[in-house]
Amino acid sequence: PLLAACQARRLAPRSVARLAQNLRVRKSDAEAALMRKSAAVCAGAFRTTMAASAMLTREGHTEDALAATFELDVRLAGAERLAYPCVVAGGANAVTLHYMHNNARLAPGSLLLMDAGCSLHGYASDLTRTWPLDGAFTAAQRRVYDAVLDVNERCIEMCVAGSGASLASIHRASLQWTFEHLVDLGILRRDDPAAASKVQRYYPHAIGHWLGLDVHDTPHVGTETALDAGMVVTVEPGLYFPPDDDALPEWCRGIGVRIEDDVLVGAAGPEVLTAGAPKHADDVEACVRRGFG
Ligand code: GLY
Ligand code: MN
Ligand code: MN
Repeated sequence: PLLAACQARRLAPRSVARLAQNLRVRKSDAEAALMRKSAAVCAGAFRTTMAASAMLTREGHTEDALAATFELDVRLAGAERLAYPCVVAGGANAVTLHYMHNNARLAPGSLLLMDAGCSLHGYASDLTRTWPLDGAFTAAQRRVYDAVLDVNERCIEMCVAGSGASLASIHRASLQWTFEHLVDLGILRRDDPAAASKVQRYYPHAIGHWLGLDVHDTPHVGTETALDAGMVVTVEPGLYFPPDDDALPEWCRGIGVRIEDDVLVGAAGPEVLTAGAPKHADDVEACVRRGFG
């Protein structure tokens, strides 16, 4: 039927292919409702896990206790399974992008990066938050956190249908904004001829990907595809400062932060499906401090 419709509209084969690709990543209203639910369940489990983390740290547990808390919570809320194995990375473990050992002891005073999602009736969520395990960011942690948050929020604002924005153009913008923050943080010099590669050393991944039945759904649709209503993307800037990088000022070594949201692109603007997970530093601290109950 798609091909017939395109032929009736006399679209060139290349346009047909492009339209077919776009349809593959655009969600129907029913699918969008399931994406919304999957993300809401996931965000709720983040709140539970953040609230449990100070207690689990005091009791001497490892990162795995947080992964288990997350999984129990999404399952109790109706998700059939995880969308992918949880990344629960305390302190400098966050600098390892796909850290999945989850076996280090939770350390008071350190940050915790959790990247986790559920699959609900087949639809995936993919969420990352980074929080201080005892409920208070240090000044250094907060400087890095607020830089990543700013990039996250600006990139989300770009997720507007018909604006011409694409995953690729949002990624390029995120590189530029991350560079500006690295200069403001005193980590890079504005006139450094190697600035581009240094930004990618501390932010070594893409800003996001399509999200749907699969977590990367699907890599076969190009990142230059213009965003259209009904598409769902992740927005996940980060900064990761290796503990042993002598080029870095000491204050930031070992800090790793990523903030990832799932965004439904709409004609009127972005809908942040994962908005239920606290994100501003004050809200994050309040959620951790609230604890259970
Ligand atoms: N959790 C996998 C990703 O963020 O792409
Ligand atoms: Mn993720
Ligand atoms: Mn992702």
